[in-house]
Amino acid sequence: PEAITVSNLAKIICVRLAPFERKLRSLGIEYTTHDHLLNSEEASLIAMEYDLNPIVDSIAAIDLFPKAMPKDMSIYPLRPPIVTIMGHVDHGKTTLLDALRKTSVAAGEVGGITQHIGAFSVSLPSQKTITFLDTPGHAAFSAMRARGAHVTDIVVLVVAADDGVMPQTLEAIKHAKDAGVPIIVAINKIDKHDANSRKVRDSLMRHGIELEEVGGDTQCVEISALTGKGLGELEEAIITLAELNDYRAEVDIEAEGVIIESQIEKGKGNVATVLVKRGTLKQGDIIVAGTSWCKVRIMSDDKGQSLKQAPPGTPVKVVGWRETPNTGDEVLQATDEVIVGA
Ligand code: GTP
Ligand code: MG
Repeated sequence: PEAITVSNLAKIICVRLAPFERKLRSLGIEYTTHDHLLNSEEASLIAMEYDLNPIVDSIAAIDLFPKAMPKDMSIYPLRPPIVTIMGHVDHGKTTLLDALRKTSVAAGEVGGITQHIGAFSVSLPSQKTITFLDTPGHAAFSAMRARGAHVTDIVVLVVAADDGVMPQTLEAIKHAKDAGVPIIVAINKIDKHDANSRKVRDSLMRHGIELEEVGGDTQCVEISALTGKGLGELEEAIITLAELNDYRAEVDIEAEGVIIESQIEKGKGNVATVLVKRGTLKQGDIIVAGTSWCKVRIMSDDKGQSLKQAPPGTPVKVVGWRETPNTGDEVLQATDEVIVGA
């Protein structure tokens, strides 16, 4: 009983029979006709070739392939880390985002005028890219979390060196910890005469942030969002953490993403910024989000450049929505307009 036919296994793995049979032959399996019975050992071996984690059930033979199995991601391309900036009121989040955005324009492609689309990408001289969510603050973070949209890879915690750790600093730490998102500390306003970064560090450590200087793994960078000091180091810290965590995503599958923001624009109708998480979003694709759907008419990046394709980690403004979707809505690609219209 612990056996499965070639065609049934192909069905479970979701591959067509012809390439499947070729695969079996390449694995040294002699008989590959559709009704040939494979024993559980063979079937497991084959399933693993397709990145699946088979569970062999002794009664029902092999029919249980858990969907949410941990996958070996190392075969997929790297994607940009997605970063949210958080911190107490007036500690300099907006100023920091503006400064980072300017470096993105300066490094810039053609055009050079940034569009506010709720997220933007910074290309570093090293060819690496960081995507920043431009809708910082606890409300946006919580809204997305509540909808199960785990968009952020990294939280940059801004703490003003002249003001120190404040209630919303602690709130941000809690949010990040609850979501299991690593923190990089940016001690801001170090240009100020009353800046006291030592005090900030001590205070953070008392609140459970394990800084590198005491053998922890939280990086801490001193910056001035106003003068631009330390911004390169902050970007480096983000890249270091991204390399450590090895963020990757499939590019050749149907697009998945999340709505960052949406609005109605004159002459364009309903527009929404989509952050692509997996797969590649293409012009002409049909996507759904919440109760709304969209045939992607026009896509543009944060510099207003129109795009035909958006790989993982890319924020794009998408025109063509029936209604404006909500921030935090999950975006999925539909295979057929008929299905969506039904
Ligand atoms: P909210 O959005 O209200 O929470 O504030 P925020 O965190 O976005 O702070 P914002 O960027 O608006 O900065 C608050 C004030 O601090 C502004 O007057 C900034 O010019 C000033 N500021 C921000 N960064 C620096 C810095 O590095 N040095 C100095 N001296 N001032 C700064
Ligand atoms: Mg602000």
